Amino acid sequence: VTAKFDWARFTSIADRITGEFVQRTDAMAEHVDASILFSDGLCMCALCEMFEVDQVIEVGTGYGGSTEMFGRYFSGHSRVRRIWSIDDAVNPRWQWLLAVTHIRRYSRYVWSTEKRAKEIAHARLAAFSNITLMHGDGFDKLPPLVRRLAGEGQRIGLLIDGPKGELQLRLVEQAFALSPLVAFAALDDIGPMYDAEQRHARFMASGRAVFATSDPQYFDRYRSINRGRLPGRMLKNTAHRGYGLGVMVNAERHAAATGAA
Ligand SMILES: C[S@@+](CC[C@H](N)C(=O)[O-])C[C@H]1O[C@@H](n2cnc3c(N)ncnc32)[C@H](O)[C@@H]1O
Repeated sequence: VTAKFDWARFTSIADRITGEFVQRTDAMAEHVDASILFSDGLCMCALCEMFEVDQVIEVGTGYGGSTEMFGRYFSGHSRVRRIWSIDDAVNPRWQWLLAVTHIRRYSRYVWSTEKRAKEIAHARLAAFSNITLMHGDGFDKLPPLVRRLAGEGQRIGLLIDGPKGELQLRLVEQAFALSPLVAFAALDDIGPMYDAEQRHARFMASGRAVFATSDPQYFDRYRSINRGRLPGRMLKNTAHRGYGLGVMVNAERHAAATGAA
């Protein structure tokens, strides 16, 4: 954890909200494949509380596991008014057209489109009045949404779980530069197991990185909330070997604009 981040304050908030987070997500008994861990969802909610954000924007809805965690935790009682989630997965019927026309880069549609992630996410999240699903590329959809919400004076927290590696960092930097009201970003799959792609090293070198949920300091403290709700790939591992959220803060700009943490 870097010195510029108030770890003691963060953990006191995460400790305080753990019970409510677990209770509110309890109905989601199983871990959803391809989703962030429940302990990662807790991290995101604690960051939202710490930075007093009004809006959450997620890039990468997938099956909607993370979106549902936030929809449940932030329902009714909270300062976070809305969770926006952007994904460019398409209905499989359109897949052939995209492949034939090369209108868009095809590769990233493959698993989420083929597995009907869009339909699954829409069905499971339909009942949440505090969630808005948006279709499109995060690079197209995120900047105008940030501009609009920040223009209304809303404080924003980001989860970037679509583009990875260089693109993921670039999208965060773009969003941070758009407004000081973008308080923080959590980047999924930043754990050290990805060092083959130097994701972790690049994240740490970015200058805005503060910690990752795969760090033992975080994971060992909150791992118990996953209980049996871990993905199959992790059931035998005692450590969080990767897939963690990397947390970056827009600290100086945000503090200057809001007087906040
Ligand atoms: C791992 S899944 C997201 C999982 C979800 N956040 C959760 O924790 O349950 C990644 C998703 O990102 C989407 N995606 C990838 N690149 C994207 C981009 N540039 N813009 C929007 N969505 C993107 C894919 O279609 C896929 O559904």
